[in-house]
Amino acid sequence: MRTQVCIIGSGPSGLILGQLLSNAGIDNVILDRVDRDYILGRIRAGVLEVGAVELLDRVGAGVRMHKEGLIHDGFELSFSGRRHRIRLKELTGTSVMVYGQTELTRDLMDHRDATGGKTIYDAANVTPHDFDSAKPYVTYEKDGVTHRIDCDFIAGCDGYHGVCRASVQDKGIQNYEKVYPFGWLGILADVPPVHHELIYANHARGFALCSQRSLTRSRYYVQVPLTDKVEEWSDDAFWDEIRRRLPADVAEAMQTGPSIEKSIAPLRSFVAEPLRFGSLFLVGDAGHIVPPTGAKGLNLAASDVHYLFEGLQEFYADKKTAGVDAYSQRALSRIWKAERFSWSMTMLMHRFPAEGEFGQKVQEAELDYLSSSTAAQTSMAENYVGLPY
Ligand code: FAD
Ligand code: DHB
Repeated sequence: MRTQVCIIGSGPSGLILGQLLSNAGIDNVILDRVDRDYILGRIRAGVLEVGAVELLDRVGAGVRMHKEGLIHDGFELSFSGRRHRIRLKELTGTSVMVYGQTELTRDLMDHRDATGGKTIYDAANVTPHDFDSAKPYVTYEKDGVTHRIDCDFIAGCDGYHGVCRASVQDKGIQNYEKVYPFGWLGILADVPPVHHELIYANHARGFALCSQRSLTRSRYYVQVPLTDKVEEWSDDAFWDEIRRRLPADVAEAMQTGPSIEKSIAPLRSFVAEPLRFGSLFLVGDAGHIVPPTGAKGLNLAASDVHYLFEGLQEFYADKKTAGVDAYSQRALSRIWKAERFSWSMTMLMHRFPAEGEFGQKVQEAELDYLSSSTAAQTSMAENYVGLPY
């Protein structure tokens, strides 16, 4: 088989890129090692920046998001027994959209099916080859048969554990990494959100987050030690713990119920440089990871796709390589700013016993400063709604 762009990974990055390319008349094939239902079973991001919303609209997959998604004009910080609202809309003129990654992925998959896009699920041993030559290709196995796809470019949209970054480890890639000493235990439940906006809480027992997926579905998280196992956490233990970490009125108002999903995610900051190796590009989580505080992971995947698509479109329309040549540098410039923000919000809102009393006092001073300074709130709001592409 031959295609122009072979996309490895059918997560948000691969699907958005595939649709932008198809709409521009650029032939592409998506390969994923698992099937559609497995991908849709992963509960991940929930907050979209305006840039991601615009991309969804641009590819023609935004109709349900606008109908069912929730516009949020602010969020709350809870600390030292106080609640402080960050007025996103007032301070920046922009809001965010609460719409789950699962729904966004489903919309993109449905749209790809409806527009005749080609996706190969359950593709085993996907391997990129010869991407430093003029004739790259990708091989995979399906039902015991090996297949080959010749292409012009390979888009590595295969997430943090994918094959693409692993294929360039000996090609001068530099990895920057910070691992945090805790994880997030998350629960999804069909109960109404405790508050109409998100609440990020810094409490002596650790961080907590009250998020949501709809008016009837809530997503809640608590900071837990990395040694905790999800099987050790009953639903009741989770509800008791999150209520302890929230202001009394919020805890009292919280409705509880059986979990639909429960998992622990470790927190990590990671960036690979560069993001281009000949005709192979690393896109989204394949090239970088942020700790979830600040909800930047999916949004960064969207901005990477925007830069790569611009380059590929210019290449096919005008035979110019300036855009693909600039991809790595343009994407990394925005990635590092989101890395900085996600790191700073993680440091601000979690408990770090190893940092001692000095660290704790500095964190309290920062929260106090934030709640009294419009400049500091504006900076937080500007980063939260997303920096321009
Ligand atoms: P992915 O969504 O990871 O998609 C990669 C795809 O590639 C997958 O479908 C995978 O099956 C496929 N693949 C992998 N390896 C191969 C291979 N060898 N061959 C073929 N296909 C392959 N972000 C937030 O903003 N908020 C959150 O609350 C949040 N929670 C998260 C929780 C978890 C547990 C994780 C892992 C991430 C979370 N994120 C969150 C981050 C966010 O979900 C990601 O940034 C986003 O999914 C990135 O999209 P992507 O398309 O680049 O990668
Ligand atoms: C969600 C996750 C986040 O990391 C965040 O900052 C906000 C919301 C969520 O899963 O809903």
